[in-house]
Order: sequence, then structure tokens, then C-alpha cells
Amino acid sequence: LRRGVAAPDLAGRHVVISAGGTREPLDPVRFLGNRSSGKQGYALARTAVARGARVTLIAANTALADPAGVDVVRVGTAVQLREAVLKAASDADVVVMAAAVADFRPAEYAGGKIKKKDGEDPAPVALVRNPDVLAEISADRAREGQVVVGFAAETDDVLDNGRAKLRRKGCDLLVVNEVGETRTFGSEENEAIILSSDGSEIPVPYGPKEALAEAVWDQVTRRYMPRRA
Ligand code: CTP
Ligand code: CA
Repeated sequence: LRRGVAAPDLAGRHVVISAGGTREPLDPVRFLGNRSSGKQGYALARTAVARGARVTLIAANTALADPAGVDVVRVGTAVQLREAVLKAASDADVVVMAAAVADFRPAEYAGGKIKKKDGEDPAPVALVRNPDVLAEISADRAREGQVVVGFAAETDDVLDNGRAKLRRKGCDLLVVNEVGETRTFGSEENEAIILSSDGSEIPVPYGPKEALAEAVWDQVTRRYMPRRA
């Protein structure tokens, strides 16, 4: 029995998912970016559709085909992603921040290509902080009872960092995974622990990103979405 077919537990719900990784331009040909492929966010979108949700996917620089039945909004930078997420979240029941958002952006954008000069050292690149979209939507929910989910990739002290991050961000659930050079980024599989603000810590064994996505929806619906009368 496919649970999406048997139990459309997201029917009538609007779900907003950010996916991919932001790019912060330095000049017309260069950017600061990250390794996120967007596959986990797209798996969340597909599985949410199967469970009956209306899905808006905010896709940052992904090279993946639009999932069927999903409203896809393409963005480039963290500032653009923030705008698109806030707009879509205004009537959302669930917001999942699966995108890798750049913490910093170049303080200045060079309108023309930056050129090297013989005998001169390169100028350092000054950076400024980007807005923290997850902290902002968690602190300022657009709707009563809106469920907010974050993702965190950690390399060391995974659980301790995850617990501290859940508290700092103020979201309901934080999906924490351990990353290395080859694991997670661009791969088809993932392993994680889903931390909840109610104190539960649910391990999800190494497996397809679809399985982790289903586990996230299970936690969202069971813990934070009592059945409608
Ligand atoms: N996030 C966000 N806006 C940012 C940075 C991160 O919304 N400017 C979201 C990510 O989408 C993710 C969660 O916050 O869901 C955790 O991202 P992470 O980079 O692990 O958190 P940071 O607070 O940036 O911590 P760190 O210093 O470890 O990078
Ligand atoms: Ca970060």
C-alpha cells in the first residue's frame, strides 16, 4: 500500500519548500556558491504532492526537471530566496527550508568582470551577512499553527550542534545530517536525525532521499497537524 495513495494526510494543505543552493554574485561571471544539488528538496516536493499537498517549490540554481504538479519559483541569491519564501509562506501550512542559503554575500558587486593586473596582489573580497530566512519565518509565523522545518548539515558534534541550532532558529523540526566530501551532496541517499522542539529525536537510516522526505512528512503530520474535524 503506497501511503501517499492510502493516506493523503497533506490534502488541502499548502506546503512551501526551498531547495538547492544560493549563488552570490561577485561580478557578471563569478559567484560564491555551495554544493547543494537540490535533490532532497525535490524529493520533499514529490512526496508532498503524493500525500495530497499543494506544493510551491522555491528552487535556487538547481539543474533538475520541475516535478509534476508543483508550482516552481526559480531564484538565484539568498535575498531573492527570502522574498520568494516569504511571499509563498503567507498562506502556507508548512514551510521547509531545505535550501543551502549562503551566510554571506560579497559586499560589493562589480558591474564589469574583475580583471587581474600584472604585479598586483588580488584585493580581498569583503563579505556581509545575508538574512536568516529560517529564523525569520520561525519567529514571525505568517499563519497560526504554521509548521516550520529546517535542515542542517554538520561535520562535527552533529547532535550537539543540531540541538543548539534547533533552539537558536526557533523552528519546530530540524533535520540534521552528517556531511563529508562525498556524502550527501549530489548523492541519491541520505541519513539523518529529525530533532523536534518537543524533544523527540527520530533517527532515519541511510537510504533514498525519498525515504527521508516521507519521514519528515510523518513527523510534521503526526506531531504538528492534528486531524481536522
Ligand atoms: N538558513 C536560512 N538562511 C540563512 C542560512 C541558513 O534560512 N541565511 C536555513 C537553511 O535553509 C537551513 C537552516 O537554516 O534550513 C540551517 O542552515 P545552517 O547553514 O546549518 O545554519 P546556520 O545558522 O547558517 O549555521 P552555520 O554557522 O553552521 O552555517
Ligand atoms: Ca550556514
